Amino acid sequence: MIEGRTDRADFDPYSSAFQHDPYPVYSRLRKERPVFYDPDWELTFFTRHADVAGMLKDRRFGRDIRGVTGDIDPRLYARNYPDHLPTWNRYIRGSFIDLEPPRHTRLRRLVQWAFTRRSTETYRPRLEATASAALETAIERGAMEAIAEYATPIPLVMIADLLGIPQGDQPQLVSWSHDIVRVFDQGCTAEEGARAEHAVSAFVEYIRQVLVERRRNPGSDLVSSLLAANHEGDRLDDDELIATCILTLNAGHEATVHAIGNGLLALASDPDQFELLKTDPAGLAERATDEILRYDSPLQMFERWVLTDLEWSGTELEHGTKVGLLFGSANHDEAVFVEPERLDLRRIDNPHVSFGAGVHYCVGAPLARVELEVAFAAFATRIEKFELNGEPERVRSLVFRGMRSLPLALSPR
Ligand code: HEM
Repeated sequence: MIEGRTDRADFDPYSSAFQHDPYPVYSRLRKERPVFYDPDWELTFFTRHADVAGMLKDRRFGRDIRGVTGDIDPRLYARNYPDHLPTWNRYIRGSFIDLEPPRHTRLRRLVQWAFTRRSTETYRPRLEATASAALETAIERGAMEAIAEYATPIPLVMIADLLGIPQGDQPQLVSWSHDIVRVFDQGCTAEEGARAEHAVSAFVEYIRQVLVERRRNPGSDLVSSLLAANHEGDRLDDDELIATCILTLNAGHEATVHAIGNGLLALASDPDQFELLKTDPAGLAERATDEILRYDSPLQMFERWVLTDLEWSGTELEHGTKVGLLFGSANHDEAVFVEPERLDLRRIDNPHVSFGAGVHYCVGAPLARVELEVAFAAFATRIEKFELNGEPERVRSLVFRGMRSLPLALSPR
């Protein structure tokens, strides 16, 4: 615990008021307590854009503390690297998002090479067809549950295309992925931990089979590209390949589902902005996507280890402790964004941090952008009017912000 900063700053992220709308709390915190320590999370939280963006880019903070000498609170270490979940530790904490240079640089370079072998634009036609088919069904009924019927199928098609996974296997992979990411949340129970461990083992076995098959029959998918990835004679070994495939699914799927859902909810709450999008869906989709990512980011909090004793914005930070970077708050900082609480699909100056910054900047951002552009443009092209058709059900988390269900009533253009 850090002396002098043990108060909770009225920060209750699991309260229903906060889950419904965290932004008034963030606004107050930015003014009154922009930096605070929370003993439950064992994190020093930062709320301002300058701090969040600055720390993401500063190498004195990292996602990996293994191998860094000095004292680390054993409980905090065990929570991050749980010994009782060895397979989870090996493949989830072993994936490149949880490494730092030079190991991170090497793996990211190989992965980036594989990602850029195929232009992101090649995914657009299949994504558009998926969005149109979902909207046609919804229009016939005059209603849809937008998370299951719209926000989920679009990223699933992307993953199927990206990894070359048969459609029938996808629900299983997504279910494993949900189990795996629970360990990142503070509220994870022992039973959920055991389920996560089992999910990683099953996922590893599944990918092993895919590797065998792709070695025999290479295709244009990411797994084949990762097998072929070669930078100056450097290659990924099997553990690295498996960890990267699991990471791609975990990192790419849930955030995109939530981003589509959050965007539709934002547009339902602001009919004028939806009218604006309808005037030029394709032309506005790019800026609208960035604004929706800023306005209600699907990933709201990332942690960093403090790798050396240092002072940041007047706050002493000790080596071996952790900071919590509140992306949702940074994206609403009035010091950076004009009228931050307003959804403005034409916003030009929009340096949001929803894809992160620095060495871990989202490697899938170009793919995510295409998915979101298609989702919002197709919706505004086909739908004349829409509104909530019941109460949305929220995911209860500080890390992920999104919905389990979003019932909508809609009529066609
Ligand atoms: C709206 C959707 C998405 C959002 C908001 C998002 C956000 C992020 C953020 C904030 C990070 C950095 C984490 C950190 O700094 O600790 C990240 C990293 C990453 N993302 Fe995404 N992401 C999205 C979609 C995707 C997709 C579609 C893929 C893959 C197909 C993907 C793959 C990755 C990977 C592999 C990393 C790790 C990069 C590294 O550590 O170098 N993401 N993402």
